Amino acid sequence: MKTRIGILTSGGDCPGLNAVLRGAALAADKLGWEMLGFRDGFEGLLPPGDFTVLDRKCTENIMALGGTLIGTTNRGHFVAKIGAGDRAVVAAEVIEKARKVLNEAHAEALIIVGGDGSMTTALQLQEAGINCVGVPKTIDNDLEATAMTFGFDSAVAAVMDALDRLHTTATSHKRAIVVEVMGRHAGWIALHGGIAGGADVILIPEIPFDFDRVADAIRAREAAGDLSSLVVVAEGARPKDGQQVKRETKEGEFRLGGIGDIVAREIAARTGKETRTCVLGHLQRGGAPTTLDRILGTRFGVKAVQLVNEGHFGSMVSYQNYQVRHVPIADAVNRLRLVPPNGEMVQTARDVEISFGD
Ligand code: F6P
Repeated sequence: MKTRIGILTSGGDCPGLNAVLRGAALAADKLGWEMLGFRDGFEGLLPPGDFTVLDRKCTENIMALGGTLIGTTNRGHFVAKIGAGDRAVVAAEVIEKARKVLNEAHAEALIIVGGDGSMTTALQLQEAGINCVGVPKTIDNDLEATAMTFGFDSAVAAVMDALDRLHTTATSHKRAIVVEVMGRHAGWIALHGGIAGGADVILIPEIPFDFDRVADAIRAREAAGDLSSLVVVAEGARPKDGQQVKRETKEGEFRLGGIGDIVAREIAARTGKETRTCVLGHLQRGGAPTTLDRILGTRFGVKAVQLVNEGHFGSMVSYQNYQVRHVPIADAVNRLRLVPPNGEMVQTARDVEISFGD
């Protein structure tokens, strides 16, 4: 029987996941192995096991597609992380069920493609003796253990495209338009997307802002003859004397969102300008991956299979200095990479007259 390994995608989807699946499946095929794709994240590991063989045929033409061929979820029986740092323990009986399903499927190892929460689960499976290899994934690009994750570049491209479009309508009406983008703890999407799209104000979680300073920036632009302004605000940004804007769902989770409307309201009140809000939401997570994300995803998928082949279990693929390497999953979880408020990117933005509202 061929060596079989499993792969699953877990947490929020992002462009580039199918490039990972394709890269991993083709690299496995080259070794004469069979790749099993478990559906809907870790949930596919529950009895009787929900998986499909990812052969060469089913990887055809998937790289250009957003989303994930095998589905994903950020809830269910294996959730090991709630919020920014609260860890939960995956029930021992759930882990045992997963082990049984993997054994019965003759899967000798499991590749987990996911973010910080999914890596926290992967670590628990590894500690319970299931051979795991992690592939980091998040559009937020906020994992300390890797210099970059696929999906981020596509999200930034979506923000840039939106700003390009919003510039023309904002200019025509001499309006301020506030664009709310993703980024729970880190403002990378807002920062990169804002710079690439020519934003005038960028508000990120790492730099609490002052509504008066945001209004000052817009007034200063008016005084210089720039009658329209684009303000990019990360969903996790907050005013100096306030909290993140979130609401509790009926499942008891907290979902960020709404800061854009508040910023727009405060700008209008302070400047008298006609102001609009545009929430980009999941548009940033959908659609075809960029060139960079297709290449990075392919490299990550291939590397994950190499790590399995070399027996580097308990490790996670990591991008460092333009090379794809690996780090222990244990060192990767719960370590966020935030925007340094005094770093070069923020300074570059300030140097092109972008205000951070501080
Ligand atoms: O963590 C990635 C992310 O895209 C965040 O930026 C965003 O807050 C969240 O996922 C949205 O998750 P959901 O798809 O559950 O609404």
